[in-house]
Amino acid sequence: MKKIDDLLNDNKTKKNIEVYGWVKTFRGNRFIAINDGSCITNLQCVIDYENTDSALLKKINTGAAVKIIGDLIVSQGSGQNLEIIVNEISIIGESDPDLYPIQPKKHSLEFLREKAHLRIRTTTFNAIMRIRSILSFAVHEFFQEKKFYYINTPIITGSDAEGAGEMFKVTTLSSDISKKNIDYKKDFFGKETHLTVSGQLEAESYAMGLGNVYTFGPTFRAENSNTTRHLAEFWMIEPEMAFYDLNDNMNLAEEFIKSVLSKILSKCSEDLKFLDDRHNHEQKNKPMLERSEMGLIEKINFVVNNNFKRITYTDSIDILKNCKPNKKNKFKYKINEWGVDLQSEHERFLVEKHFKCPVIIYDYPARIKAFYMRMNEDQKTVRAMDVLFPGIGEIVGGSQREERLNVLEKRMRDMKVDKNELWWYLDLRRFGSVPHSGFGLGFERLVQFTTGMGNIRDVIPFPRTPQNASF
Ligand code: 4AD
Ligand code: MG
Repeated sequence: MKKIDDLLNDNKTKKNIEVYGWVKTFRGNRFIAINDGSCITNLQCVIDYENTDSALLKKINTGAAVKIIGDLIVSQGSGQNLEIIVNEISIIGESDPDLYPIQPKKHSLEFLREKAHLRIRTTTFNAIMRIRSILSFAVHEFFQEKKFYYINTPIITGSDAEGAGEMFKVTTLSSDISKKNIDYKKDFFGKETHLTVSGQLEAESYAMGLGNVYTFGPTFRAENSNTTRHLAEFWMIEPEMAFYDLNDNMNLAEEFIKSVLSKILSKCSEDLKFLDDRHNHEQKNKPMLERSEMGLIEKINFVVNNNFKRITYTDSIDILKNCKPNKKNKFKYKINEWGVDLQSEHERFLVEKHFKCPVIIYDYPARIKAFYMRMNEDQKTVRAMDVLFPGIGEIVGGSQREERLNVLEKRMRDMKVDKNELWWYLDLRRFGSVPHSGFGLGFERLVQFTTGMGNIRDVIPFPRTPQNASF
């Protein structure tokens, strides 16, 4: 069975071919546009309505699934190179036009989120999900070519890697769950367990034997942030490298992002062109100040072709303290002192207004970062790095890890991380410990950047967010 994309790329006329797809539009009882999900372009099928049964014609509605046999010829009309003269059409699955919600008109993204099971029938979601698929393949290609090994870390875990406490509980206990003193010995695993927030700690263990590894799997966070950049279930890519310091880590993150984006530029040009037009159209409806100055493709090219700006947390605080962010010269969260966490308004100011390029901030205060990050000699900062992107904010979070047993133990005590639960993680520092580093890239944030979509809920098939787990 040929896909429409193959037929159009071949660009050759053919007799008596068979195609399958869904009807997008049916105009003037003559022109059926069908799409099978393989490309952005619909295939125009011309039907001889005078010699077609009228009952059958009535069933050619938007959303119906059809099989068409006909001759692929050079198109008589403008707008497409090839078209099919239909010899035979059969309706495989009917679609009632009064009930089918995806009509050939512009639907709002909010409306389509309510119809997440059907929104993939729209051109926009078709393009986004093709890009998502090709991006994930590019991720594997990048690491495989570099001899990184793909590992699968557990989804159910007893440890809180990030120490932020935003975890979903996994239990088979039913009635006792509301009680204060739950006896987890009676639970399925005989201990308290959660859905993982990150595969990093386990990846570290494997990097200590395989050298370079990466995970690419689902992660779960019960943070109650109803924003356009947060999901409760998202996919994260986490490479972990033995014998890498923070600088090597930053170099890898930058090379990685540039590599997958340039693959998309070369492999997804038609989908990108469509999303670029869409993006430009959306920008026109935004207030002047929020408009992005670049088109989507231009933005991707910019990231691929320019160095990311690298700056320490301390230097970024100096900039933020003395800057004029807007007309009122005020951030919502004022930067009073060294040591505060950066809010997204600060990150966006640095990326979008000050440097006007992706920024890597490194050497953060130890107080605001996770226990496993390597302590610097100043005893105040750790070897952490965040990659910040225009429109997205933080896309990557990573660090060089603390490889010194005594320093790590002290950090865990100070930050009240349970040593007993992570005995095995400490073992990695007892036996053949080496400097090592890694990072996590939020896959949906990458898809969001690449497709120019404003809301992260529109780049994953069935988003999980607070108060929403439909489908
Ligand atoms: O910065 P984070 O929390 O880092 C870690 O989890 C480390 N263990 C990674 C590592 O060093 N191996 O998360 C990493 C990235 C963020 O930069 C962001 O892109 C994404 O994961 N992310 C989210 N994406 C969507 N929804 C959420 N709720 C996210 N939380 C984090
Ligand atoms: Mg982070």
